[in-house]
Amino acid sequence: MAEPTPKPTPTPTTPLPPGFSWGASTAAYQIEGAAAEDGKGPSIWDTFTARPGAVRDGHTGHTACDHYHRYREDVALMRGLGLDAYRFSLSWPRILPTGSGPVNQAGLDFYDRLVDELLANGIAPVPTLFHWDLPQALEDADGWLNRDTAHRFAEYAAVAADRLGDRVTRWITLNEPFVHMAYGYAFGIHAPGRALLLDALPVAHHQLLGHGLATAALRAHGAAQVMIANNCSPVRPGGRSAEDLAAVEAYDILHNRLFNDPLLLGSYPDLSGYGAPEPTWGGLVRDGDLAAIAAPLDGLGLNYYNPTWVVAPAAPTAPAGPAAPSAGILPFDLAEPGPGYARTGFGWPVVPDGLTELLLQMRQRYGDALPPVWITENGCSQPDRPVDGEIRDQDRIDYLDAHIDAVAAAVAQGVDVRGYFTWSLLDNFEWAEGYHQRFGLVHVDFETQVRTPKASYGWYRDRIAAHRGAR
Ligand code: NOJ
Repeated sequence: MAEPTPKPTPTPTTPLPPGFSWGASTAAYQIEGAAAEDGKGPSIWDTFTARPGAVRDGHTGHTACDHYHRYREDVALMRGLGLDAYRFSLSWPRILPTGSGPVNQAGLDFYDRLVDELLANGIAPVPTLFHWDLPQALEDADGWLNRDTAHRFAEYAAVAADRLGDRVTRWITLNEPFVHMAYGYAFGIHAPGRALLLDALPVAHHQLLGHGLATAALRAHGAAQVMIANNCSPVRPGGRSAEDLAAVEAYDILHNRLFNDPLLLGSYPDLSGYGAPEPTWGGLVRDGDLAAIAAPLDGLGLNYYNPTWVVAPAAPTAPAGPAAPSAGILPFDLAEPGPGYARTGFGWPVVPDGLTELLLQMRQRYGDALPPVWITENGCSQPDRPVDGEIRDQDRIDYLDAHIDAVAAAVAQGVDVRGYFTWSLLDNFEWAEGYHQRFGLVHVDFETQVRTPKASYGWYRDRIAAHRGAR
């Protein structure tokens, strides 16, 4: 199918800095497929997707975009966009099938080939070490609830850096530790499907500790740049009462500050509203942990999709049953954004100025402790369908255009943003939604694996070229 004609080349409304880096992001379980090939061990997503009812329509990542076999074609698509950088993730169980112990060289070989292909096409590889596909063997030992997993993660980082560190200079340790804790361990919507509510909090600390230990391991292998990708969401009140404003503060602590404060300030925010009443969380946070977590970062990755609206919690209800042993009452309720916002295919509100707000808030909150920022994910799902062989995803173009402008607006106000990665290069396996939400610049027919660039693909290519032309 022919690539649809994009709208005229966009003129950047606010110039981004000359060296600004353009990229696209993906993740291993969402695109690779080859779930049991070449010695790969099972991940928690292989297990979770086999559980009836866990994922919409029983979809799995068994084949996904078959990127494991089609990576050359996919790198050619990246080259066609003119990308500076590609953010992808390494599958931990492809490299260490049981999470620790013997290394699967065949798994590492795949990433070796991918990195070489990227470099041959002038694209910087930016691997993320953990994008949610924990080796099942580690989950069998309690996953991120177990402090030991942080140490296993650092060993895995060393293995990856040992093999790829001669060509990879920029590493991302974790992807969205908040979402992994909340969806995977607190609410059971994602793998590993635990519904522990507030008992999931140790997952935050152990992931952050894993980040800190992995950072040291990467640096010991000469890594030039280490970053983490945090999902951040500015919080807005859904009501006007003092209780609603307190709920805003409480949600901000859980979603944003729990994961940014220890990295940038070396301390946790006050978590007394979440049953972690003192700084050691009942001994969980040990001497030296916060120093490891706060090791200087070369960059902070921010994944932004939309703000979150919250209100004061409704009157207390009875705690949940056995699935939620310590079910406390959360100090907020999620609220609807209210009318007036366009929605994505997921129903998420489209709020570009929320990205400017987030960046300014980060700058204000952390001052000089804020390292250079990369937008490591931003994009939208839309119900894209080929019409006459073309996919005219004008909604996505409008979304991306407005969000890139929102980044430029923050840069113009002094925030040091160095790059933008859109989510995603390809339509892919969208976790609990299976293949129902399409985020790609490139449409994938999951029956045939045919890739078709959407109108947004041509638009992004031209946006990148326009920026370079403006240098
Ligand atoms: C963030 C996650 O990192 C990514 O895996 C996911 O597909 C996108 N958000 C869209 O939900």
